[in-house]
Amino acid sequence: MCGIVAYIGKKEAYPILIKGLKRLEYRGYDSAGISLVNQGLKVYKCKGKVSDLEGFAAGKDISGSVGIGHTRWATHGEPNDVNAHPHFSGNENLAIIHNGIIENYDSLKKELIQRGHTFKSDTDTEVLIHLIEDVQANENLPLAEAVRVALTQVIGAYAIAVLDKNDPEVIIGAKKGSPMVVGLGKDEYFLASDATPIVEYTKDVVYLEDEQIVELRPGHEIKIRNIENEVLTPYIQELELHLEALEKGGYEHFMLKEIFEQPKSIADSMRGRFHVESSDVSLGGIIDYEQKMATAKRIIIVACGTSWHAGLVGEYLIEDLARIPVEVEYASEFRYRNPIVHEDDVVIAISQSGETADTLAALELAKSKGATIIGVCNVVGSSISRITDAGSYTHAGPEIGVASTKAFTSQVTVLLLMALRLAHKKGAIPESRFQRILAALEKIPQQVEETLKSAALVEHISAEYKDARNFLYLGRGYNFPVALEGALKLKEISYIHAEGYPAAEMKHGPIALIDEEMPVVVIATSKGSYEKVISNIQEVKARKGKIIVVVTKGDKTAAELADHVIEIPETEEELVPILASVPLQLLSYYIAVMRGCNVDQPRNLAKSVTVE
Ligand code: G6P
Repeated sequence: MCGIVAYIGKKEAYPILIKGLKRLEYRGYDSAGISLVNQGLKVYKCKGKVSDLEGFAAGKDISGSVGIGHTRWATHGEPNDVNAHPHFSGNENLAIIHNGIIENYDSLKKELIQRGHTFKSDTDTEVLIHLIEDVQANENLPLAEAVRVALTQVIGAYAIAVLDKNDPEVIIGAKKGSPMVVGLGKDEYFLASDATPIVEYTKDVVYLEDEQIVELRPGHEIKIRNIENEVLTPYIQELELHLEALEKGGYEHFMLKEIFEQPKSIADSMRGRFHVESSDVSLGGIIDYEQKMATAKRIIIVACGTSWHAGLVGEYLIEDLARIPVEVEYASEFRYRNPIVHEDDVVIAISQSGETADTLAALELAKSKGATIIGVCNVVGSSISRITDAGSYTHAGPEIGVASTKAFTSQVTVLLLMALRLAHKKGAIPESRFQRILAALEKIPQQVEETLKSAALVEHISAEYKDARNFLYLGRGYNFPVALEGALKLKEISYIHAEGYPAAEMKHGPIALIDEEMPVVVIATSKGSYEKVISNIQEVKARKGKIIVVVTKGDKTAAELADHVIEIPETEEELVPILASVPLQLLSYYIAVMRGCNVDQPRNLAKSVTVE
């Protein structure tokens, strides 16, 4: 979390930084700030969003062609003006922006206080810039060297950019644990948490690795050293990101745009990866590890949030189709509970951003124990995709709305392909079933398109329940993770308490909550445990709960029992989660809009959680 952006060149830095911060706002929006080199160092920062910063900076001197900008998701210190970044050093000669956590900030702070430093904020970041200042002054070092030496004393995660009033022609960046990409333009450099602030200026980028320090001086080559002070050759890559993917394209919110993009994003996830005629699935990225995966004693899936829900669908798919035992773990629990991991285990990390700190740490742990690690990430070049042995990108395109939608359906699509590939390799399912699923998969983008036509109906249902205080989501089998995901979407963006439950478990607790005030969303599609779900619906109805069902087109039984019916096209059971998620995404979206919530930037959340 936290987004950082920096520019050095000949253009005015301010508009580039502001635009960049707006692109990075998905990473946090508690406060925003910029620093510009302009006859000294200016810092403008305030609590709130980037638009608040614009208001704050209006009328002030914002000229200058060197600057850094930050949008914050608070960790140390409450979100207020003082704790906003950038932070000055004590002598106000240096300014820093930071994404990450300096874990030993407290002991460093105490030492610095003893040496006469005083601090204005509660942040770990201010401690780091004082440390750099201290090193620079005591050892009389140039900025890049002072940053490097200071970082040798730091424990934790960081992506930082530093400006020096006395050397206004340079920006120093460094990273460990948090992402950082450098854009190389003509006589100008950019630096950011991801490539979105850079893409419209240059396609040439360098992704920094951990413990690397970069020196950006226009007119000079980019200089990269590691923390041991060895000079490294930059690996310049070409960006494959397109600007249109970062715009709202006429939709009111990114979330709605991303929901409606799903026919395309799902098609992109499966493009070139299977052929119905030749009855073949191939995932290039894991080809060398297929054997290892197919013969694994166990697959462990680690993930957080929505990606964890995709992991649950993955468990059902891999066990059902490929007959390999699967465990799904919250990455944050897995990493700290001393798990048993063997060398013949395969650990799959699922992550839209590829940057989630807990997922990354869980993978590192699995790797240290000798397991094979596989990634299912959306962001190309992300930290997780770089540390894994192999992986399959989801290719859903940039997802900007904080609540994940198209990334989820693409994750499920890729996991299905993986399960099918492993099943085929092992000969675990009959050819006829394999072909049936492939044929159904081919139709999915078109069927998602059809499902999206229910938007007006879902909007109508939303109006009826927008003031509910609680929601219950029920599903069985493949639809249980869909229920969890539906509930999470509603919680995240509309702030209505919602619980997802396996339908049969309802009678062991949540049934006590049901009365005429309680909307219950039941995914009751035709295959799997249909009759059993019908009994669960009866149980809700007997207690006067309001029933919203998602059913297979043409269903009569569930529809007759329900207050509201949303139909999805018929497909194979394994593919239902993709279709059934769509109306639930729409339901949460419309309810949130009707409640006046900020759909794309829900309170307290961030899209990419790079702290634990
Ligand atoms: C945050 C986001 C969620 C996301 C989760 C995991 O909580 O708000 O939408 O599912 O992180 O993120 P990842 O990038 O690893 O999928």
